[in-house]
Amino acid sequence: MGQGLLAPSFQRIDGALWCEGVPLQQLAESAGTPAYVYSSSSIRGQFARLSGALAAIPHRVHYAVKANGNLAILALLRSLGCDVDVVSGGELHRAFAAGFQADRTIFGGVGKTSAELAYALRNGVHVLSVESADELDIIDRLAGDLGVRARVGLRVNPEVTVESTHDYIKTGQKGDKFGIPVDQALTVATRAATLPNVALVAIGMHIGSQLTDLAAYGDGLVRLEELIVAVRSLGVSSLEYLDVGGGLFVPYADEDPADLERYVALIRPVVERTRLTLVVEPGRFLVAEAGVLVTRVLYRKRSGGRTLLVTDAGMNDLIRPSHYQAYHRIEAVDGIATRATFDVVGPICESGDFLAIGRELEDVSSGALLCVFTAGAYGYCMSSNYNARPRPAELMVDGDRWAVVSMRETCEDLVRLETATPTWRNG
Ligand code: LLP
Repeated sequence: MGQGLLAPSFQRIDGALWCEGVPLQQLAESAGTPAYVYSSSSIRGQFARLSGALAAIPHRVHYAVKANGNLAILALLRSLGCDVDVVSGGELHRAFAAGFQADRTIFGGVGKTSAELAYALRNGVHVLSVESADELDIIDRLAGDLGVRARVGLRVNPEVTVESTHDYIKTGQKGDKFGIPVDQALTVATRAATLPNVALVAIGMHIGSQLTDLAAYGDGLVRLEELIVAVRSLGVSSLEYLDVGGGLFVPYADEDPADLERYVALIRPVVERTRLTLVVEPGRFLVAEAGVLVTRVLYRKRSGGRTLLVTDAGMNDLIRPSHYQAYHRIEAVDGIATRATFDVVGPICESGDFLAIGRELEDVSSGALLCVFTAGAYGYCMSSNYNARPRPAELMVDGDRWAVVSMRETCEDLVRLETATPTWRNG
């Protein structure tokens, strides 16, 4: 068993997997399965790594709440000095519920509603990241109605070539729905400068997630810097931030992690030349490796020459393998020496419901516990109730302490907002 492959906060002790000072088996027995388990030391470590790498540049780290919005994770990041990036009124509500002040929030997203924008403006979010000329006009009008000055950033689509692990998570290429196309950005910036109720404080981009080639940041920054120079030459002096978005690569198998030194080397000269404060919006980088999904093998069976492990976690709990053909390392919680090849599938009534296909792992039987790694980002937050399955519990570990940080849903929760006896509203 390759100890070196394990995320540092997860290790084997006498053959059994532990998260920090707590055996995963104990967590599974106490809290049931499936369950997400988060290591706080991993989150602290990743935040320290990123902050350390950026130390020489004036910067703010705005965690992308979409990666994992659990309140305990948000509160932990807040305590470390991290800020947040949200993309819906719901995420803004989460951030406030976790104790973030409005001046630590950036509100982005391609389709914010007027109600969401008004909520953000009333609460004084630090930067509203604008993704279209239409949105800019609506923000100006809403801000006027509320008697406030909106602090806006422009999210630019720099239209560069983006290398990532999946097409669905590329966002900075020509024709993508995100951001203001780079050739329209100066026009929108000029308009922002003339509107009475907005102040243009940021220029930024987010070109994609799980970026396998850092060069795309450099390519995008060339375009942003040209824009910043052009905007300033119009007499705009309100710019404060250069936002490079998220996207840092995280290893799910044995790939190399993102080269932070090179990342900073690409960004630093632009920050220095523009004399802006850097904003980064990492999601996956801060939380992916901190989380695992613990699931129990319900049945082992043979079909068509394959050996199937049917687990109690399905695509409703972790959709990434099915949706992005994403690889997640899987290991038995109780290490055993012999190995076999399995399709690890869930209980959902779809053939696309799998955690891994043709995967070699420990030769486990029904009843065994499996640990699905690198599930801290885009795991629980993308889960659903499909097949009327209550969502799993989320647990946090800190040293040898652990806590339930979101309760397992119950069947009662599944029907709480519904009625079998409609109250007809008309006639
Ligand atoms: N900023 C913006 C504007 C974003 O849209 C995103 C992610 C981030 C920051 C954070 O990116 P990260 O550092 O996590 O790469 N569900 C997909 C990932 C979707 C990412 C969406 N945007 C997955 O499971 O791979």
